[in-house]
Amino acid sequence: MTLLVVGASGFLGREVCRQVVAAGRRVVGTYFGSAVAVPGVQVRRMDVTDRSAVRALLAEVRPDAVVATPYRYDDWSVTADGAAHVAYAAAEVGARLVHLSSDAVHAGRPTPYLDDEAPTPIFPYGAAKAAAETAVRAIDPGAVLVRTSLIVGEGSKQIQLCRDALAGRAALFTDELRCPVDVTDLAAAVLELVDSDVAGPLNVAGPDAVSRAELGLLVAASSGLDPAGLKTTTSAELGLHRPAEVRLDSSRAAGLLRTRLRGVTELLIA
Ligand SMILES: NC(=O)c1ccc[n+]([C@@H]2O[C@H](COP(=O)([O-])OP(=O)(O)OC[C@H]3O[C@@H](n4cnc5c(N)ncnc54)[C@H](OP(=O)(O)O)[C@@H]3O)[C@@H](O)[C@H]2O)c1
Repeated sequence: MTLLVVGASGFLGREVCRQVVAAGRRVVGTYFGSAVAVPGVQVRRMDVTDRSAVRALLAEVRPDAVVATPYRYDDWSVTADGAAHVAYAAAEVGARLVHLSSDAVHAGRPTPYLDDEAPTPIFPYGAAKAAAETAVRAIDPGAVLVRTSLIVGEGSKQIQLCRDALAGRAALFTDELRCPVDVTDLAAAVLELVDSDVAGPLNVAGPDAVSRAELGLLVAASSGLDPAGLKTTTSAELGLHRPAEVRLDSSRAAGLLRTRLRGVTELLIA
């Protein structure tokens, strides 16, 4: 069994690779601009915006399964077109596809979102992730689309943002709620999904909904930092049009998977 991790240099991709290597399985990992820092991974450079290059690499590697993580927050060609190129190339070689999506596809509302709710994006990143989902589903209806939320854990940019806000170098929104998930839990869930035939959108996030500012306070408590230093703001105050409350209901994933998706309170405080 050969697994191809597209975006192995990224936060989640690295952890997926680490767990595959630890399990003694073969993994080929791609990067674009950064090195892949996981021993035991066969490394290849690939630009997902280059459709021919993506097709050529998959035809050469012939993976049994592909985990697709790449995105750039402000680059449609990577996030949307790139996802389509990977899905097309994976389908050409008959590989199982696990595509990483996001809670950003939703507009935000007080009630939780179920797995199969249609995207309602309200900002460009959410629109690009929604377009990626549509392309992936059209190309390969058997692919699973993992809708996840803030990815936390050692080396997380979300946690770094909290530390920066606690030092007054950044500000955290009090009016944006998300369901953070630990990178090791998410990677283990992704690998279970590689070995499954689950298809379509699946919410894979933690059970606790917290605001970004509350996440900052949890980081302060777990790291012994002074919570009084936390700088906060609101997206409303800054005039930003971003999803406010996005709670992913991950109960279907919790029932399907052996991996327990831990809540952020347990992760940071227990
Ligand atoms: N992080 C979060 O809190 C969060 C929340 C919800 C959903 N997600 C989703 O989860 C997935 C993984 O997120 P992450 O935080 O692990 O991402 P990340 O650390 O930013 O990694 C992104 C990956 O995309 C690769 N990439 C960028 N441009 C590329 C290109 N042109 N061609 C090929 N690869 C390219 C990067 O490669 P180089 O670094 O080598 O350039 C890197 O490996 C994404 O699909 C994201 O939308 C993340």
